[in-house]
Amino acid sequence: MVEIIEVPDHNNDGAVDIADVELLLRLDKNTARPLMQTGDFRSTECVELLKQCDIACTNPPFSLFREYVEHLMEYDKKFLILGSQNAITYRETFQYIQQNRMWLGYDNGGTKWFRVPIDYSVPTESRMKIEDGVKYISFGSVNWYTNLDTTKRHQELTLFKRYTPKEYPWYANYDAIEVSKVIDIPLDYEGEMGVPITFLDKYNPDQFEIVGSSQTHSRPLSEIAERGTYIQGGPRFYLAIPDGKYLYKRLFDRLVGGLLSREAVC
Ligand SMILES: C[S@@+](CC[C@H](N)C(=O)[O-])C[C@H]1O[C@@H](n2cnc3c(N)ncnc32)[C@H](O)[C@@H]1O
Repeated sequence: MVEIIEVPDHNNDGAVDIADVELLLRLDKNTARPLMQTGDFRSTECVELLKQCDIACTNPPFSLFREYVEHLMEYDKKFLILGSQNAITYRETFQYIQQNRMWLGYDNGGTKWFRVPIDYSVPTESRMKIEDGVKYISFGSVNWYTNLDTTKRHQELTLFKRYTPKEYPWYANYDAIEVSKVIDIPLDYEGEMGVPITFLDKYNPDQFEIVGSSQTHSRPLSEIAERGTYIQGGPRFYLAIPDGKYLYKRLFDRLVGGLLSREAVC
């Protein structure tokens, strides 16, 4: 375990940042001490450390992601953790997303490369690279999950499309329309709509309500159609616009015709 109590401005650049942490770890051997127990995050020793911390920031094993999130919730911790994109749809984690107790952090948009030992290997060549003698492997779509507030979570997604039944088909197994791209969410549709889970990156809880997901709400297609007659789509979030928002939008639309500014409506 490495315990960092204070980070001085080691490189004298006027800011205390990750470069100083790196120097601290390299220069000050006294900051490291072995854990006495197994190091399992559920051990009493690690729980005691967790209790002391303000923010848990880590890359938990993906196989224990659900359990780790549960653990952080149990101890009511602020966190910033990496997890597979698939974790969005896990029943256990989805409930926290829906309850606005967890959301996505900032993303650099590109492939995430993880440093690994040089003899570590995966069958897919394109997932590996070596730079300056250091090996990196990409682990597919990875997200930051957090309960720390972000600016993007309060930014309103600008909607410009209008609903037409032709463009937005109904699901056969849930009462909602399919919106295959987040950018196409219609501004004038008052019912529920299904959007790809990539929507989560644009989710503003003041603008939308996540009602459920295809995993939690849809009837299995096998119950309503013959096997072989349908193709299972990707996971979807079902969204609704919170009460009052449409009223506001309709009002807004009408007043725009009369050249009133948005501020005048608010
Ligand atoms: C995805 S790796 C991340 C390693 C490191 N944090 C990093 O970013 O390079 C997950 C780490 O969790 C460790 N791990 C596995 N099971 C664990 C458990 N029950 N409690 C604590 N750590 C565990 C693994 O040994 C591994 O080092």
